[in-house]
Amino acid sequence: STMACGSKKDTLVMATNAEFPPYEYLDGSDFKGIDIEIAQAIADDLGKELVIEDMAFDSIITAVQSGKADIGLAGMTAMPDRLENVDFSDSYTTATQVIIVKKGSTITTASDLEGKTLGVQLGTTGDIYADDVKDATVERYNKGFEAVQALSQGKIDAVIIDNEPAKVFVSQSEDIEIVKEEFAVEEYAIAIKKGNEELQKQINKSLEKLKESGELQKIIDKYINE
Ligand code: ARG
Repeated sequence: STMACGSKKDTLVMATNAEFPPYEYLDGSDFKGIDIEIAQAIADDLGKELVIEDMAFDSIITAVQSGKADIGLAGMTAMPDRLENVDFSDSYTTATQVIIVKKGSTITTASDLEGKTLGVQLGTTGDIYADDVKDATVERYNKGFEAVQALSQGKIDAVIIDNEPAKVFVSQSEDIEIVKEEFAVEEYAIAIKKGNEELQKQINKSLEKLKESGELQKIIDKYINE
Protein backbone atom coordinates (compact mmCIF):
# COMPACT_ATOMS: atom_id res chain seq x y z
CA SER A 1 0.00 0.00 0.00
CA THR A 2 1.09 3.57 -0.59
CA MET A 3 1.59 6.17 2.11
CA ALA A 4 0.59 9.77 1.68
CA CYS A 5 3.69 11.95 1.93
CA GLY A 6 4.28 14.76 4.35
CA SER A 7 1.19 15.96 6.18
CA LYS A 8 -1.13 15.21 3.31
CA LYS A 9 -3.99 13.03 4.47
CA ASP A 10 -5.20 9.99 2.62
CA THR A 11 -8.44 10.69 0.81
CA LEU A 12 -11.80 8.96 0.83
CA VAL A 13 -13.36 9.63 -2.56
CA MET A 14 -17.14 9.56 -2.59
CA ALA A 15 -19.08 9.24 -5.83
CA THR A 16 -22.56 10.74 -5.57
CA ASN A 17 -25.34 12.37 -7.54
CA ALA A 18 -26.19 15.62 -5.77
CA GLU A 19 -29.68 15.87 -7.22
CA PHE A 20 -31.39 13.93 -4.48
CA PRO A 21 -32.47 16.04 -1.52
CA PRO A 22 -32.40 15.51 1.45
CA TYR A 23 -29.67 12.88 0.93
CA GLU A 24 -27.38 14.92 -1.34
CA TYR A 25 -27.87 18.23 -3.06
CA LEU A 26 -26.03 21.40 -3.94
CA ASP A 27 -26.57 24.57 -1.95
CA GLY A 28 -24.76 27.08 -4.15
CA SER A 29 -21.47 25.28 -4.59
CA ASP A 30 -21.70 23.44 -1.23
CA PHE A 31 -22.64 19.80 -1.01
CA LYS A 32 -25.28 19.23 1.63
CA GLY A 33 -27.41 16.38 2.91
CA ILE A 34 -27.59 13.24 4.98
CA ASP A 35 -25.17 11.20 2.84
CA ILE A 36 -22.64 14.04 2.73
CA GLU A 37 -22.62 14.24 6.53
CA ILE A 38 -22.41 10.46 6.90
CA ALA A 39 -19.45 10.39 4.49
CA GLN A 40 -17.76 13.22 6.40
CA ALA A 41 -18.25 11.41 9.71
CA ILE A 42 -16.80 8.17 8.25
CA ALA A 43 -13.86 10.03 6.70
CA ASP A 44 -13.18 11.72 10.07
CA ASP A 45 -13.35 8.36 11.82
CA LEU A 46 -10.90 6.82 9.33
CA GLY A 47 -8.60 9.85 9.49
CA LYS A 48 -9.10 10.58 5.80
CA GLU A 49 -9.94 13.67 3.83
CA LEU A 50 -13.34 13.47 2.11
CA VAL A 51 -13.38 14.23 -1.62
CA ILE A 52 -16.79 14.43 -3.33
CA GLU A 53 -17.21 13.52 -7.01
CA ASP A 54 -20.60 14.56 -8.35
CA MET A 55 -21.83 12.56 -11.36
CA ALA A 56 -24.90 11.02 -12.97
CA PHE A 57 -26.47 8.39 -10.70
CA ASP A 58 -26.01 5.94 -13.52
CA SER A 59 -22.20 6.35 -13.39
CA ILE A 60 -21.66 5.78 -9.67
CA ILE A 61 -21.34 2.00 -9.70
CA THR A 62 -18.85 2.16 -12.60
CA ALA A 63 -16.83 4.80 -10.75
CA VAL A 64 -16.57 2.52 -7.72
CA GLN A 65 -15.81 -0.54 -9.86
CA SER A 66 -13.00 1.23 -11.70
CA GLY A 67 -11.47 2.68 -8.54
CA LYS A 68 -12.20 6.27 -9.62
CA ALA A 69 -14.08 6.50 -6.31
CA ASP A 70 -13.63 4.58 -3.06
CA ILE A 71 -17.30 4.61 -2.17
CA GLY A 72 -20.67 5.30 -3.76
CA LEU A 73 -22.98 7.09 -1.36
CA ALA A 74 -26.14 8.33 -3.02
CA GLY A 75 -29.31 7.07 -1.36
CA MET A 76 -28.39 3.87 -3.13
CA THR A 77 -30.51 0.81 -2.50
CA ALA A 78 -28.63 -2.38 -1.72
CA MET A 79 -30.22 -4.30 -4.59
CA PRO A 80 -29.13 -7.94 -5.00
CA ASP A 81 -28.38 -7.48 -8.72
CA ARG A 82 -26.03 -4.57 -7.96
CA LEU A 83 -23.93 -7.04 -5.93
CA GLU A 84 -22.63 -8.38 -9.23
CA ASN A 85 -20.71 -5.13 -9.64
CA VAL A 86 -20.11 -3.72 -6.14
CA ASP A 87 -20.28 -4.79 -2.52
CA PHE A 88 -22.41 -2.94 0.01
CA SER A 89 -21.89 -1.82 3.59
CA ASP A 90 -24.51 -2.55 6.22
CA SER A 91 -27.71 -0.58 5.73
CA TYR A 92 -27.73 2.95 7.17
CA THR A 93 -31.42 3.71 6.69
CA THR A 94 -34.62 2.44 5.12
CA ALA A 95 -36.70 4.15 2.45
CA THR A 96 -39.72 3.41 0.29
CA GLN A 97 -40.63 3.98 -3.33
CA VAL A 98 -43.65 6.21 -3.90
CA ILE A 99 -45.71 7.40 -6.83
CA ILE A 100 -46.12 11.12 -7.59
CA VAL A 101 -49.12 12.21 -9.67
CA LYS A 102 -50.92 15.39 -10.70
CA LYS A 103 -53.53 16.36 -8.11
CA GLY A 104 -56.85 14.75 -9.00
CA SER A 105 -55.21 11.96 -11.01
CA THR A 106 -57.11 8.69 -11.46
CA ILE A 107 -53.95 6.88 -10.33
CA THR A 108 -54.53 6.03 -6.67
CA THR A 109 -52.74 2.68 -6.32
CA ALA A 110 -49.75 0.96 -7.92
CA SER A 111 -52.05 -1.18 -10.07
CA ASP A 112 -53.42 1.99 -11.72
CA LEU A 113 -49.99 2.50 -13.31
CA GLU A 114 -50.75 -0.14 -15.95
CA GLY A 115 -50.55 1.28 -19.47
CA LYS A 116 -49.48 4.72 -18.25
CA THR A 117 -46.45 6.87 -19.10
CA LEU A 118 -44.06 6.78 -16.16
CA GLY A 119 -41.10 9.02 -15.38
CA VAL A 120 -38.05 7.84 -13.46
CA GLN A 121 -34.44 8.76 -12.87
CA LEU A 122 -32.23 6.68 -15.16
CA GLY A 123 -30.72 3.62 -13.50
CA THR A 124 -32.62 3.88 -10.22
CA THR A 125 -34.82 1.31 -8.56
CA GLY A 126 -37.78 3.41 -9.72
CA ASP A 127 -36.57 2.66 -13.24
CA ILE A 128 -36.52 -1.07 -12.46
CA TYR A 129 -40.05 -0.99 -10.98
CA ALA A 130 -41.45 1.07 -13.84
CA ASP A 131 -39.99 -1.43 -16.27
CA ASP A 132 -42.08 -4.16 -14.63
CA VAL A 133 -45.40 -2.29 -14.98
CA LYS A 134 -47.58 -3.92 -17.64
CA ASP A 135 -47.90 -1.94 -20.89
CA ALA A 136 -46.31 1.17 -19.37
CA THR A 137 -44.12 3.58 -21.33
CA VAL A 138 -41.04 4.55 -19.32
CA GLU A 139 -39.42 7.98 -19.74
CA ARG A 140 -35.94 8.05 -18.20
CA TYR A 141 -34.46 11.36 -17.00
CA ASN A 142 -30.95 12.17 -15.80
CA LYS A 143 -32.33 13.89 -12.70
CA GLY A 144 -35.31 12.92 -10.56
CA PHE A 145 -36.37 16.54 -10.59
CA GLU A 146 -36.63 16.53 -14.39
CA ALA A 147 -39.14 13.67 -14.16
CA VAL A 148 -41.17 15.68 -11.65
CA GLN A 149 -41.09 18.73 -13.95
CA ALA A 150 -42.31 16.62 -16.87
CA LEU A 151 -45.19 15.47 -14.65
CA SER A 152 -46.12 19.06 -13.76
CA GLN A 153 -46.05 19.90 -17.47
CA GLY A 154 -48.44 17.04 -18.22
CA LYS A 155 -45.92 15.14 -20.34
CA ILE A 156 -46.13 11.97 -18.22
CA ASP A 157 -48.75 10.41 -15.90
CA ALA A 158 -46.68 9.53 -12.82
CA VAL A 159 -43.18 9.48 -11.32
CA ILE A 160 -41.76 6.59 -9.32
CA ILE A 161 -39.11 7.79 -6.89
CA ASP A 162 -37.83 7.45 -3.31
CA ASN A 163 -40.10 8.89 -0.60
CA GLU A 164 -37.92 11.63 0.88
CA PRO A 165 -36.86 13.29 -2.41
CA ALA A 166 -40.52 12.93 -3.44
CA LYS A 167 -41.57 14.98 -0.41
CA VAL A 168 -39.04 17.69 -1.22
CA PHE A 169 -40.03 17.90 -4.91
CA VAL A 170 -43.77 17.86 -4.15
CA SER A 171 -43.36 20.67 -1.62
CA GLN A 172 -41.90 22.82 -4.43
CA SER A 173 -44.89 22.43 -6.73
CA GLU A 174 -48.59 23.20 -6.12
CA ASP A 175 -50.14 20.83 -8.62
CA ILE A 176 -48.67 17.43 -7.70
CA GLU A 177 -49.06 14.98 -4.81
CA ILE A 178 -47.79 11.66 -3.48
CA VAL A 179 -50.11 8.65 -3.81
CA LYS A 180 -50.80 7.30 -0.29
CA GLU A 181 -49.93 3.71 -1.10
CA GLU A 182 -46.17 3.15 -0.80
CA PHE A 183 -44.55 0.18 -2.44
CA ALA A 184 -41.17 -1.52 -2.02
CA VAL A 185 -39.26 -0.92 1.19
CA GLU A 186 -35.57 -0.48 0.48
CA GLU A 187 -32.33 -0.44 2.45
CA TYR A 188 -29.81 2.28 1.62
CA ALA A 189 -26.16 1.25 1.85
CA ILE A 190 -22.70 2.39 0.79
CA ALA A 191 -21.25 0.85 -2.38
CA ILE A 192 -17.66 -0.37 -2.12
CA LYS A 193 -15.39 -1.93 -4.74
CA LYS A 194 -15.98 -5.68 -4.97
CA GLY A 195 -13.50 -7.60 -2.88
CA ASN A 196 -12.26 -4.59 -0.87
CA GLU A 197 -13.09 -6.30 2.38
CA GLU A 198 -10.75 -4.09 4.38
CA LEU A 199 -12.59 -0.89 3.46
CA GLN A 200 -15.94 -2.65 3.86
CA LYS A 201 -14.99 -3.69 7.41
CA GLN A 202 -13.73 -0.20 8.26
CA ILE A 203 -16.89 1.43 6.96
CA ASN A 204 -19.19 -0.98 8.76
CA LYS A 205 -17.25 -0.29 11.96
CA SER A 206 -17.61 3.48 11.49
CA LEU A 207 -21.31 3.08 10.73
CA GLU A 208 -21.75 0.96 13.85
CA LYS A 209 -20.14 3.72 15.94
CA LEU A 210 -22.39 6.34 14.33
CA LYS A 211 -25.45 4.23 15.08
CA GLU A 212 -24.49 3.48 18.68
CA SER A 213 -23.57 7.07 19.54
CA GLY A 214 -26.85 8.36 18.14
CA GLU A 215 -24.91 10.53 15.66
CA LEU A 216 -26.50 8.87 12.63
CA GLN A 217 -30.02 9.54 13.89
CA LYS A 218 -29.00 13.12 14.67
CA ILE A 219 -27.84 13.62 11.08
CA ILE A 220 -31.08 12.15 9.71
CA ASP A 221 -33.26 14.24 12.06
CA LYS A 222 -31.47 17.39 10.92
CA TYR A 223 -32.81 16.89 7.38
CA ILE A 224 -36.03 14.92 7.89
CA ASN A 225 -38.70 16.09 10.26
CA GLU A 226 -41.66 13.76 10.26
N1 ARG B 1 -32.71 4.43 -4.08
C1 ARG B 1 -32.74 4.51 -5.50
C2 ARG B 1 -31.70 3.58 -6.08
O1 ARG B 1 -30.83 3.14 -5.43
C3 ARG B 1 -32.53 5.92 -6.03
C4 ARG B 1 -31.26 6.58 -5.63
C5 ARG B 1 -31.01 7.87 -6.39
N2 ARG B 1 -29.95 8.63 -5.79
C6 ARG B 1 -29.46 9.77 -6.28
N3 ARG B 1 -28.50 10.37 -5.59
N4 ARG B 1 -29.91 10.28 -7.36
O2 ARG B 1 -31.75 3.29 -7.25
